[in-house]
Amino acid sequence: MELITAKSAGFCFGVKKAVDMVMQQAVENKDKHIYTYGPIIHNEEVVKKLEAEGVHAVASEEELETIAKQGNNVMIIRSHGISKKKQDRLTELGFEIIDATCPFVKRIHKTVMDESKAGRNIIIIGNRNHPEVEGIMGWCVSEPTVIETEEEVDKIPFDNTKSYCVVAQTTFNHNKFKEIVEKIKHLGYDVNVVTTICNATYERQRESRDIASKVDTMIVIGDTHSSNSKKLFEICREECEDTHFIQTLDDLNLDLTKSVRLVGITAGASTPDYIIEEVQNYVRVDF
Ligand code: F3S
Repeated sequence: MELITAKSAGFCFGVKKAVDMVMQQAVENKDKHIYTYGPIIHNEEVVKKLEAEGVHAVASEEELETIAKQGNNVMIIRSHGISKKKQDRLTELGFEIIDATCPFVKRIHKTVMDESKAGRNIIIIGNRNHPEVEGIMGWCVSEPTVIETEEEVDKIPFDNTKSYCVVAQTTFNHNKFKEIVEKIKHLGYDVNVVTTICNATYERQRESRDIASKVDTMIVIGDTHSSNSKKLFEICREECEDTHFIQTLDDLNLDLTKSVRLVGITAGASTPDYIIEEVQNYVRVDF
């Protein structure tokens, strides 16, 4: 029996950096109150572990005001980033800010700020309810337009006396982005397109599909609330009928009577390495 684990399984670069920064704060700043602005990642296991280390995820704006009164607070901004207004509010409330915004997202903040200051209207391609997009919107100095589909291009009030800048949510689908941009360019306005999609998600999906197409059994590890993990499961199941979606090793229920020669493992962007390793070790020893 052989085992293949996807190289791209688990945390992407930006999430790894953010989680490491939180761990570092928990160790180095034991005399302070450590918070994250929302859960640092969509993984219950990790969030629970951090709680045990004294790191709390702030759930609402109201909670911030209450916490601020106690003083001596550190706030870690997660990889999605937050708006400038929220960041300024944290400073006003006296929080020491540790910015774990992914550098790829930071680059988008800078782009939309510079371009909107230069007078361009910003068009963001992404999901307007996603925290990353909310954050990006908050770095534009003029009101941006957010669209998610090709059809929505028709609703943009283009004006030929104005110029535009297009950016995308980092996890937006590459092909859909290309289609939307083609349609916008076709209209003939002055448009500067900045491709801001991050390859981490695409690469994880590509590699997982490739592995699933070769193995007898495929294991996808991810949080049940994580949309990128669910997507990974769908992709793998298309290639391998015997695909299992688990959150931790406890959920794994393999049919040991079947003859299995090759097992594949992949994991969503919010799955920590220790969970991947536990599953790997179990399959190696018990399968
Ligand atoms: Fe991850 Fe940063 Fe890309 S958080 S998905 S490396 S934009």
